[in-house]
This record gives sequence, structure tokens and C-alpha cells, in this order.
Amino acid sequence: MRVLITGGAGFIGSHIADLLADTGHEVVLLDALLPQAHGSSGAPGWSERHRLVVGDVRDRELLASLLSGVDAVCHQAAMVGHGVDPSDAPEYASHNDYGTAVLLAAMHAEGVHRLVLAGSMVVYGEGRYECADHGVVRPGPRRREDLDAGRFEPPCPHCAAPLTDGLVGEDAPLDPRSTYAASKLAQEHFASAWARQTGGTVWSMRYHNVYGPRMPRDTPYAGVASIFRSALAGGEAPRVMEDGRQRRDFVHVTDVALANALALAADAEPGGLTAVNVCSGEPHTVGELAGTLAAAMNGPEPVIVGGARAGDVRHVVASPARARELLGFTARTSFADGVAAFATDELREPAAATG
Ligand SMILES: NC(=O)c1ccc[n+]([C@@H]2O[C@H](COP(=O)([O-])OP(=O)(O)OC[C@H]3O[C@@H](n4cnc5c(N)ncnc54)[C@H](O)[C@@H]3O)[C@@H](O)[C@H]2O)c1
Ligand SMILES: [Zn+2]
Repeated sequence: MRVLITGGAGFIGSHIADLLADTGHEVVLLDALLPQAHGSSGAPGWSERHRLVVGDVRDRELLASLLSGVDAVCHQAAMVGHGVDPSDAPEYASHNDYGTAVLLAAMHAEGVHRLVLAGSMVVYGEGRYECADHGVVRPGPRRREDLDAGRFEPPCPHCAAPLTDGLVGEDAPLDPRSTYAASKLAQEHFASAWARQTGGTVWSMRYHNVYGPRMPRDTPYAGVASIFRSALAGGEAPRVMEDGRQRRDFVHVTDVALANALALAADAEPGGLTAVNVCSGEPHTVGELAGTLAAAMNGPEPVIVGGARAGDVRHVVASPARARELLGFTARTSFADGVAAFATDELREPAAATG
């Protein structure tokens, strides 16, 4: 298969490129090398083995030339991170949503019908919660005064009782809580509309917390694993927000690449979008991540610092059942092995730009 991988020089896209090339597929990488992601250092060394076109997904003419003869598009390009304030909303909308719209129009024009999209767990907002009296409920954003007082668990929105948290399925209500999250959900909506209009197929791969080699080092856009690793590498204790008991699903980047390869080869339902959680199915707390990494790096014990960033959610852990059923995907890297290896994994150099 010939596959165009947008964002192919990035953390996840580069692993997809390697896996596809290793398994006999032809890949073409398109990446704008955004300064937020790559600084001014140019193309990372790991892209050298592939054909990398430095350019923008918003460039319709460039896309037309790249899509000829392509069987499927694996769309990883996006501006990531959670954004700071509304001043960055135009950039998120432009790269992520306008970029996706231009890509879809070009795919239509060039007769490319298969799309695998990098979705995200952020479309769910909070995870799944149940109240003993009210069943499955949807807690709203947590209140600043609760967080400041160390009350991190969201209460039942009806009776304020404590809730139990469970696994999020793909049919959970969608409730994006940041500009980035809104832009990731809009990508799904554009792709879904395109599929309806064209009869094309879309897998939306809703990644959970991805970590592993080539993850960007500590930047405002980096994930928590890389922030902990950077602190430990500097001899400092990882600083864990809230009480450290917030739960996530940490999934290894090589497993995410495998899920993409399976989706590229599998037939999605034509004329619509099929979303699948891409997760390990092995939830852990953020405190456990910090502790396991600190032990692997022989570093100081994590420090619990309380607080929470605006818009942060408490628990998001997902059901891996649909990806297993539809794609035959099961994560192969255990938390213990992946985090131990992450102590020495190669990371991407910090970006020069911080804004
Ligand atoms: N890392 C995670 O935990 C995670 C979780 C959920 C979803 N995702 C999604 O996975 C995808 C890949 O993310 P990543 O973590 O590898 O980030 P990344 O920043 O390493 O990779 C994204 C790449 O896209 C490129 N890019 C951005 N805008 C572009 C544009 N307009 N034209 C061409 N290239 C452009 C960047 O230069 C970068 O190389 C993104 O769509 C992201 O939203 C990531
Ligand atoms: Zn209740």
C-alpha cells in the first residue's frame, strides 16, 4: 500500500512511518516541521530513511501532487498541547481543522477514499462516572475552590454524592474541554461529513496518553511522562499535581503505530466514521507513572504538589474492547516494560519556541 502520512516527522507519525516501511509499504511523509514541535533544528534524523516532503497540509496544490497514486492517508499532523488562552485558538483551528478540511477536499479531488485520523481521548472530557442513585452521570468542570481545597474527585452533578469511575467507550458523550480538544473533535466531524458525501471510510484512532521514544522533551506541549523524565534527568523529583491518584491509560507509541497499521489495512464502515480507543487497557495513576519512572531512573521520590491545571480532567480510562474487536488490536507493551525503557529512550530535543 502507498500511504501519505501527514505529521510524519512527529512523535507518533514517525513510528507509523517506520512500521509501515518495515512491513513493505511505501510511505510519503508530509510535515511542516512546526517550530512548536521541532524548534529550528529542521527535520529529525529518524525521518532520513523516508521520503519527507516539508510542507503544510493547508497547501492544496502540494497535496494534489502528493496524493496521486496514494491508497490511504494517515493524518497525524496537528498542533498539539492544551493551549494557554484564547489567543491560540486561530492557530489550532487553522492547523487542525482548516488543515483537515483542505486534506479532505484534496482527497476527494484525487479519488483517495481511505482515511485514518489521529483522534484523541480529549474529545470525551471527563471519563465515565456512576452515581449510586443516578446511574451514569456527566460531571461538569471541577470548581476552582474544590481543587484549591484538595477536593479533586468530581461529585454527582445531581446529588453531590461521590462517584465511581469506569471505562469510557467510544459511544460516550463528547465534551471537549479545551481549544485543542474542540479542534480534535471538529476534525472527526469534518471527516465524518466527508465520508457521508463520498462513501469514503474513516477510522478515528482516539489515542490515550501516548509515551515512548522520540516523545518531545519538556515543553509546554509535552505530555506528563516527558515532563517527569526531564525533571528526573535534571536530578529533581517529579512534581505530581492533584493527589497523584488521577487515572489515565498510558499507551506505548509502538502500540499506537501498530493500531494505525491495522486500521490502514482494515475496512471501516463506508460512508461514516468509526472511532476506536487506542489504549493499553491497563489504567494507572499519574502518581504511579512518576513513581515507576523515578525508580527506573534511580531518582528522588515524586512530590505531590496539589493543584490542577484549568480544564484538567480527573480520570479518563478507556475500554480497549472495540479496537480489539474491529481491528484485532491489543497493546503489546506493558506499563512496567514501557516505563522502564522510557528512562533511557531517545527523546526529541526541546523546541526553541515556547509560545
Ligand atoms: N501524543 C499524544 O499523547 C496524543 C494523544 C492523542 C492524540 N494525539 C494526536 O496524534 C497526532 C500526532 O501527535 P504527536 O504527539 O506525534 O505530536 P507531534 O507534534 O510530535 O507531531 C505532529 C506533527 O505534525 C506536524 N504538523 C502540525 N501542523 C502541520 C501542518 N499544518 N502541516 C503539516 N504538518 C503539520 C508537526 O510539525 C509535527 O511534526 C496529533 O494529531 C495529535 O493531536 C496525540
Ligand atoms: Zn447522584
